[in-house]
Amino acid sequence: MNVNLKVKRFDPADSTGGSWWQEYNIDIHQDSTVLDALIHVREYEDTSLALRCACRASICGSCGMKVNGSAKLVCKTRIVGVSPNGEQITVEPMGNQPVIKDLVVSLDTFFNQVKRVEPYMQPDFIPDSGEYIASNESMENLLTAMNCIMCGCCVSDCTVLEVDDNFIGPAALAKAWRFVDDPRDSKKKDRLKDLNYEDGGIWDCTRCMQCVEVCPKGVNPMERIMELRDQAIEIGFTNTNGARHAEAVYGDVGHSGWLDELRLPIKTFGMFNFKELIKLIPIGIKSQLVGKRPPIFHKSIPGVENIRKIFERYKN
Ligand code: SF4
Ligand code: FES
Repeated sequence: MNVNLKVKRFDPADSTGGSWWQEYNIDIHQDSTVLDALIHVREYEDTSLALRCACRASICGSCGMKVNGSAKLVCKTRIVGVSPNGEQITVEPMGNQPVIKDLVVSLDTFFNQVKRVEPYMQPDFIPDSGEYIASNESMENLLTAMNCIMCGCCVSDCTVLEVDDNFIGPAALAKAWRFVDDPRDSKKKDRLKDLNYEDGGIWDCTRCMQCVEVCPKGVNPMERIMELRDQAIEIGFTNTNGARHAEAVYGDVGHSGWLDELRLPIKTFGMFNFKELIKLIPIGIKSQLVGKRPPIFHKSIPGVENIRKIFERYKN
């Protein structure tokens, strides 16, 4: 079949320093993957094209790239899946990571984020038998997070990292959860404390679900982050803007059926946190001018009893 690829190129040796798009038309077997197509280009059309791959079987995690705008393992992505009617396929390097050349990014930032969570077991004793036996259930619980192949796709498409490179990122947090929930690890409290209070920690996730969408191994990093939040609150780490915000949203919706947006910042930052509250004044003025100011008197929505019933059922 004929495939039209539009590939983003970047050459660090190019004095103009810019990147450019290059198109390739190739003939390739209909069952081919995007990686097969790129390797075909490199072998037969343009030997200067740089890309990274190893296992070609979605195991090593080295072939993450953006295909048609979202991160994928290209060895797992079939041409017919992304171009069912022969549409052009765009391929670019992963996002949120510096490009070294063409489709190859540096994973230094990614691995530094993972290192921040101390991704190794820290037991406080070694059993006399010399071996710590964990239950099957506890290990099964960790399986999804242990599936991570460190491909970086979730980091590539993380919308928080796009605007805040201090965020520790979905892969590192999923890895942290893997140790927090491991019964053999003794640092659960310390780990949660660090992730809870650290700037760029668990409360910076906006739950956009991009990491869930693109993860090729079903690790579901966002869900792991939500579990870390729950555990941090359960253990008593509640003195953060994030924890107060979650509590306020829960309280508002459970009581009136919707958010009291006028008082939400006060509940989140605290009544006397003038430094943060002052920053919101321009937003307040703008919303007043365009008629979007939340009502001063917060009334319950019609049918709120049904929402309260849901909350009651959830609590029980
Ligand atoms: Fe890749 Fe998923 Fe691991 Fe993120 S969580 S690095 S997307 S395998
Ligand atoms: Fe190993 Fe794609 S080449 S995961």
